[in-house]
Amino acid sequence: MRTTEIRARFLDFFAARGHRVVPGAPLPTPDPTLLFVNAGMVPFKPYLAGERPAPWPRAASVQKCVRTLDIEEVGRTTRHGSFFQMCGNFSFGDYFKEEAIAFAWELSTAPRSQGGYGLDPERIWVTVHHSDAAARSIWREVAGLPEQQIVSRGDEDNFWSMGVPGPCGPCSELFYDRGPGVGTEGGPAVDEDLYLEFWNLVFMQYERGEGHGKSGYPILGELPGRNIDTGMGLERMATILQGKENLYEIDEARPVLERAAELAAVRYGTDARADVRLRVVADHVRTALMLLADGVVPGNEGRGYVLRRILRRAVRSLRQLGYEDPALPELLAVARDCMAPGSPEVAEGFTRIADRARGEEEAFRATLRQGTTVLDAAVTKVRQEGGRSLPGAQAFLLHDTYGFPIDLTLEMAAERGVEVDREGFTALMEAQRERARADARTRRSGGTADTSALRAVLDEHGPTDWCAWEGLTSDSRVLSVLAATGPVPAAHQGEIVTVVLDRSPFYAESGGQESDAGRLRGASVEAEVLDVQRPLPGLVVHQVRVTAGELAVDDAVHAAVDPEWRLGARQAHSGTHVLHAALREVLGPAALQSGSYNRPGYLRLDFPWRGGLSAAVRSDVEEVANRALRRDLPVAVRWMTRPEAERLGALALFDETYGEQVRVVEIGGAWSRELCGGTHVERAAQIGTVALTAEGSVGAGMRRLEAAVGIEGFTYLARERDLVSRIAEQLGAPRAELPDRIAGLLDRLKAADRENTRLRERATADRARDLAAGAEDLGVARLAVATSDGGTDEARALATAVSSRLPATQPGAVAVSTPAGALVVALNSAAQDSGLSASTLVKHLLPGRGGGSAALAQGGGLSPEKLSAALAELPRLIRGG
Ligand code: ALA
Repeated sequence: MRTTEIRARFLDFFAARGHRVVPGAPLPTPDPTLLFVNAGMVPFKPYLAGERPAPWPRAASVQKCVRTLDIEEVGRTTRHGSFFQMCGNFSFGDYFKEEAIAFAWELSTAPRSQGGYGLDPERIWVTVHHSDAAARSIWREVAGLPEQQIVSRGDEDNFWSMGVPGPCGPCSELFYDRGPGVGTEGGPAVDEDLYLEFWNLVFMQYERGEGHGKSGYPILGELPGRNIDTGMGLERMATILQGKENLYEIDEARPVLERAAELAAVRYGTDARADVRLRVVADHVRTALMLLADGVVPGNEGRGYVLRRILRRAVRSLRQLGYEDPALPELLAVARDCMAPGSPEVAEGFTRIADRARGEEEAFRATLRQGTTVLDAAVTKVRQEGGRSLPGAQAFLLHDTYGFPIDLTLEMAAERGVEVDREGFTALMEAQRERARADARTRRSGGTADTSALRAVLDEHGPTDWCAWEGLTSDSRVLSVLAATGPVPAAHQGEIVTVVLDRSPFYAESGGQESDAGRLRGASVEAEVLDVQRPLPGLVVHQVRVTAGELAVDDAVHAAVDPEWRLGARQAHSGTHVLHAALREVLGPAALQSGSYNRPGYLRLDFPWRGGLSAAVRSDVEEVANRALRRDLPVAVRWMTRPEAERLGALALFDETYGEQVRVVEIGGAWSRELCGGTHVERAAQIGTVALTAEGSVGAGMRRLEAAVGIEGFTYLARERDLVSRIAEQLGAPRAELPDRIAGLLDRLKAADRENTRLRERATADRARDLAAGAEDLGVARLAVATSDGGTDEARALATAVSSRLPATQPGAVAVSTPAGALVVALNSAAQDSGLSASTLVKHLLPGRGGGSAALAQGGGLSPEKLSAALAELPRLIRGG
């Protein structure tokens, strides 16, 4: 079964059971505790934690996830991928354990012809938390699993939380026995390769506090509602259903692996070491594709750094396979073709994705080339001096300046017949970490160049003549071009380098405002400005990509900020001040901004506050902000001494270093007065509009407001208006009446649901009574046989209902079959007392395909012929023949 089919079946199954299908979120998440979404529940966290009412009682999604903590394991085990997709069903205070278990069992075992995955029930093992007797008995009832296939485990394995304070609870996992040859028998506690975990059901009912590890934290209390959070590994299910040994061989990954093998002219499956490298390539190329598609850009920090590392590891693995030419764009295209059916975003942005990857690969290949030259020179020197070991300092230089991970240095040194002083290397790494901690602040970017090279430029040429506040262009001279290796005389087309100019109109990222975009143009060069920073006081540096010609030291260039970009940046930054002032007007002075970020069209602002903002408060804040725009408050920039600014009550939000004089930005005089180095509009009306788009928690006691600004704000509102129009049209109601109409509809739906359940229960009861009355007397016992229209759940409900209505004094048996080929057998107590067992009967009728308890057992996956043959056998078995 193809992965897209597995995905579709999951969503269809839960949609048919009242779940709202919610599209997956992009990988970068605003949650400050995470870099990337790493579980299906992340986008639903506020609902699960009870911070916000969930818009739907049940939801289902397929969520892209990235986990890079165990990146070293990728390719070595059969089941770890840095990217994976989690299929989840969620209940927000609606159903709980019983249904969650029944759903997972039914979808896993229902025959493929019935929309299920058709797993052999006999090969499924489950684990439960040792304190969770209820889950154990539900599994027995629902799945008829024998005791030894329900394994109890402790907090380490069967208690789930996100690793941070928040919702948590015991969980129950489903494993599939992959059969002989894969590992050691004895259940999931013994071998997680043979028994592959494919689904985790979390019964969220507690809130946890601060603490470490999987159990070192207090349980603070019960959550307001009991929730369900489940995660089925899409790739793991594909591994099982496609009969593959590991997740790199499934349909969505294997073509990349094959293409890489072709490029490197190796055959997968012939050499264990090469296989690991091919799997690393397959995994990393796909992860990089998904990250690039979601707008992550390779960089030196945070998300960008994770992506850079992944891309470099892919390039390096290819090199280790003996392939040294550029390969990423080609491999990414193969990955795109695999992933586009489920994630169309990878196809839409592919040109941009391939460009980014190409640039990154070229830069890294250049680094590798230079590093190899350095390594060869060092090895020659060691040999000439009669030594056998490369000094730690050389390995460190290769790591620090050329981006050679130590294992690459070890490997290349070994190929050249020398050892490496690892201890010396480790000591230098440790010393570097110390330094990094000490000057984390000054290290804040300088593009690819390191601080000492930048300091040399500053010492030689003095501070940059920075004219971002005065205008958008300047005629400038190139003072220095820095590659990753240090100063170079020139950079060529395609290269990304750090450039220092004598004079720059580009705003450098600070105070929450993103750096300016724009271009450098000279007689024989064009370059695109990617990032602008002030890594040292007074020094502005530009990270640029040379798009044509050659950029050389001493070149005269015309530096020009993109005017559209700058206008957007000014609107967004002034919009942030306005929103901050509005927030404080509505909530009071305690709502003091603790962080912010703005770029054209978008802004966000974090502030300390307990609990979410109600819809009324949110709309008050928006109203106050837009009133300031409508009144067209003047914006003024004033320089004054710090004490004077303090006397005026100006808010100093960042501990930026200002000189004697500080820059104060006022909007409407005292209404908004902040120390700020940003670029702003001249009057508030130029902001256009501020439209709140989101409000949420970003950690304990901290909230985040997000807004669309300027033209983006209008676009956002237009989209909302369009949405409302479409809903109004669908419901045939005037807009003003929509909330009442929808509330009415929901009430009616609930009432209809209740009525439906009542009628179904009554129908089952009536039918059970008739079946019990009409049971055939076999002498030793009475037997009722029936078919149920529904699934195994309904069949079980009917079988139990009939068996409880058979005369208690006489042994009685019930057999109910389903159209999907399941058979449920139930016995009353008198039958069990007489020595009959439902489990034994089912095992006789369907050898190897079912089981359960003495009272209730079931089997599945039967063809109609087998089913009627089994039913025909039943009377004889009961008579003991
Ligand atoms: N949130 C649960 C997990 O990630 C389902 O395993």
